[in-house]
Amino acid sequence: MSILVLGGAGYIGSHTALALVNAGRDVVVADNLETGFRKAVPEMARFYKGDIRDRAFCDGLFEREQIDGVIHFAANSQVGESMTNPLKYYANNMGGTRVLLESMVAHGVGKIVFSSTAATYGEPERVPILETDATVPTNCYGETKLSMEKMMKWISVAHGLRYVALRYFNACGAQPDGSIGEAHNPETHLIPVILQVPGGQREKISIFGDDYPTPDGTCIRDYIHVCDLAQAHILALDYLLSSGENNVFNLGNGVGFSVKEVIEEARKVTGHAIPTEVLPRRAGDPAQLIASSEKAKTLLGWKPEFEDLHTIIQTAWDWHKTHPRGFED
Ligand code: UFG
Repeated sequence: MSILVLGGAGYIGSHTALALVNAGRDVVVADNLETGFRKAVPEMARFYKGDIRDRAFCDGLFEREQIDGVIHFAANSQVGESMTNPLKYYANNMGGTRVLLESMVAHGVGKIVFSSTAATYGEPERVPILETDATVPTNCYGETKLSMEKMMKWISVAHGLRYVALRYFNACGAQPDGSIGEAHNPETHLIPVILQVPGGQREKISIFGDDYPTPDGTCIRDYIHVCDLAQAHILALDYLLSSGENNVFNLGNGVGFSVKEVIEEARKVTGHAIPTEVLPRRAGDPAQLIASSEKAKTLLGWKPEFEDLHTIIQTAWDWHKTHPRGFED
């Protein structure tokens, strides 16, 4: 019996596929390779290139493989792009999930863990954010992820599917042995963009706003290591396989760091001065996002290993300095 990782050639998907392989699981990876990389998929996993919007492709996977459970990362995930091209997000994130669920129901595959996001909350009423807090997305990406959660709920009512939605905060870092890491094109996330300065690909880092109501005026985020996210997916899948109920979990470290603090830590890790410039605020950025992950710790037994920002940035730096062009190196 096997675990199907959809979007397993992407950043969080590939780290999860590797964690599953390392845990001795039989792993099947499917990815359309639009944003993912074939080289990121572990050698031990069986790979299928295809798109979950293609019903015949999904049916083929469930017919050829004995799938126990699905971990679903196959979606677009750029907040900015979702605001300029929302229909792409409806078509891929919601449309793809609809086709996938149709195929799962038709083949009697009834368990799914999937990537949701802190963006489902929008501007939080308070921090740390609890899973029961209001979900009012401020961007189309978060809206489609929230809609995917709701789609799963109603499919569960009608067809008995069971699901876990994992709401990640700021995913970062890389496999500590430097074998896989983050590679987006274009890169927009704070830590890899900062590391492009010591990596010689950019001269300075732009700080998007220093007039937020935070101690140093820059936005505060909860940075969670990708390997800790990977472990949470395995725990969530095992929770479903041992008859756990439908559920939603936040995944973060519960500690916030400002943009300036992250830059300062990156200076220490890399030994580079990392010059900065302050630009106006980026549209749609909440001042502070910090998770309460007590529910995941209690119900799933999740224990994040990478709680220290220095170590988290060190793993990212170990990857980026040896792979300045990502998987093209
Ligand atoms: N930032 C900069 N300069 C940069 C890049 C980012 O100052 O060059 C700032 C942003 O304004 C923000 C912080 O760094 O305040 C973190 O930005 P990221 O783009 O790294 O991450 P976000 O918090 O915007 O987004 C992340 C995930 C999304 C998810 C969202 C939830 O990447 O997928 O959290 O709110 F939807």
